[in-house]
Amino acid sequence: MILDRVGSTQETVKEAAANGADEGLAILALSQDSGRGRSGRKWISPAGKNLALSILLRPKISPRLAPLLGLMTSIAVAEVFTALGVKNPRLKWPNDVLVQERKIAGILPEASLGYNTIEYVIMGIGANINTELDDFPQELRALVTSALIETGRAHDLAKTAVGLLTKMENLYNRIDSEGCGFIAPLWEKHWGHKGKLIKVGAKTGIAHAIDNDGALLLKDGDLIHKITAGEVQLVGII
Ligand code: BTN
Repeated sequence: MILDRVGSTQETVKEAAANGADEGLAILALSQDSGRGRSGRKWISPAGKNLALSILLRPKISPRLAPLLGLMTSIAVAEVFTALGVKNPRLKWPNDVLVQERKIAGILPEASLGYNTIEYVIMGIGANINTELDDFPQELRALVTSALIETGRAHDLAKTAVGLLTKMENLYNRIDSEGCGFIAPLWEKHWGHKGKLIKVGAKTGIAHAIDNDGALLLKDGDLIHKITAGEVQLVGII
């Protein structure tokens, strides 16, 4: 469903989920007045130029594996950018999509958990498609990019959204047929920081692997730190 203007597509889908909506509901908004990013940040998405959408999932997997759904979504988003002609979109743990360290898309997974079950997950996706740098506030311009900037041409938003939903559906259906085990190795293939020195909170180490529950494994000498949340910063290249 495409809406002209909402507060946040996350809220629209959350309300529908609470009223029993089926999984697969996807709401795309042309403009959001209060788009939300991770860690309580705002998500700025100039009207009519980017994808701002939220998808309702009701996965039958253990809550322990819920982080893998965000990773899965970032794989689908990266593959969509590749299909648009964007060169080398890379993933930053847990689920940012970057091009040469500039953010081109972000994912906001919000879950409602029951006792050992996932009631629902709302997968929020913000993807920069037809924005130019001038469309973003000054303080973001050095940090972001878009498909238009990377490819030099505008892209059809509706077709791009359909391409994304199709890729998501294919990956999501694979979970039913083969479980979640394929997600971490596939995500690692798109990982921009693998083998690089990174920092997450107070921990610094080599970006070593993604565990089968989606956690980041940081190698610090003989120690492996398992990180389940945090903001990754690139320190340097080894
Ligand atoms: C991030 O901070 O990287 C995640 C950004 C997620 C933004 C999307 S836009 C559609 C959906 N609605 C929101 O309010 N946020 C998400």
